[in-house]
Amino acid sequence: MLVTGGAGFIGSNFLNAAVPRAPERAFVNVDKLTYAANLSNLRALQGAANYRLERADIADRPQLEAVFERHRPVLVVHFAAETHVDRSILEPDAFIRTNVVGTFNLLEAFKRWSASQPGALFHHVSTDEVYGSLGDSGRFSESSPYDPSSPYSASKAGSDHLVRAYARTYGLPVKITNCSNNYGPYQFPEKLIPLMIINALARKSLPVYGRGLNVRDWLHVADHCEAIWAVIEHGEIGATYNIGGSNELRNLEVVQLVCDLVAEQLRERPEALRELITFVQDRPGHDLRYAIDAGRVGRECGWTPARTFTAGLRETVAWYLANAAWVDEVRSGEYQRWLSANYAARPNAS
Ligand code: NAD
Ligand code: TYD
Repeated sequence: MLVTGGAGFIGSNFLNAAVPRAPERAFVNVDKLTYAANLSNLRALQGAANYRLERADIADRPQLEAVFERHRPVLVVHFAAETHVDRSILEPDAFIRTNVVGTFNLLEAFKRWSASQPGALFHHVSTDEVYGSLGDSGRFSESSPYDPSSPYSASKAGSDHLVRAYARTYGLPVKITNCSNNYGPYQFPEKLIPLMIINALARKSLPVYGRGLNVRDWLHVADHCEAIWAVIEHGEIGATYNIGGSNELRNLEVVQLVCDLVAEQLRERPEALRELITFVQDRPGHDLRYAIDAGRVGRECGWTPARTFTAGLRETVAWYLANAAWVDEVRSGEYQRWLSANYAARPNAS
């Protein structure tokens, strides 16, 4: 099995669960190791006979072709992407390169080396953000029209279209999953939940965009990884499955809960942490609300999430507290550069 982006947040959670669970399979992790990757996420796999890393850029066609030629994978699970919306607003180039050109290169390599092998499958991991924004009601289904708002979601929409086009035109065996916002261990602290946890621990301000009224559906990363397995094993070839936690919360509610759970674990009063919440200038093109109808994956693949949000978030806060060395390591020069690029120019909301 060839897994792209396996040293990132979801990819490493996927590999840490899958490699020991399927000892009969060989796993090859193809990762460029960008700022978002961390090989220490995969420390538990060191020495595993059925795991190896190939450092390669999916946007580099010859490099990728060579990896395919060496391994001829039957199954490709494609996680690799540039993934942070705010970065896509300030620095969009890499999003087009990796998410669009990289996915195109993977499809070409898969078509050439793998698609004709028995049992071949290209599983494309994507996001609910391709559907754009909901108003106060309704949920995204697999037939919702694409209407992306950010360079990130537009590049993922482009990648989804390429995957479907390769299925229709060349008959490639593909499946696509579009999932809502994930949280859990190993998430790079540029995304809302880990940023708020580590800022709360450091008693730094907690920057909430606008008035914190935007709604996201949150799913624990382990539940997302289980859903991907369920779709690989039971999903229909050529189909799309939406994955979500049926757990919609306003951003302000999420940040307040983070404050409460950090305070609980430090045995402090939450009020002092909640006072760190600062409303800052909104994100341009900020989608108001995401919500997922995950009925199809439940009916056809037998998947439902196992964790409640409060239990999953409590576990996640505990993980960041217990992994201070991991947090220190990722707070590198690049992370500091990003904080200053995104937040220094963002005045408090009036
Ligand atoms: P991440 O940013 O944590 O990790 C991305 C990984 O891809 C890193 O290991 C990085 O080194 C690798 N990568 C980036 N560019 C590459 C390139 N050119 N060649 C090879 N490797 C490259 O991302 P994540 O949050 O783990 O997301 C994984 C996938 O899941 C993405 O496709 C994303 O769109 C999708 N997704 C994420 C979420 C979420 O909430 N995080 C939700 C739904 C879907
Ligand atoms: P994020 O984790 O970046 O995921 P996405 O943009 O893919 O949904 O953001 C989740 C929500 O939190 C989103 O509505 C933007 C908001 N947000 C803040 O309010 N402050 C922040 O510092 C960040 C990073 C996000």
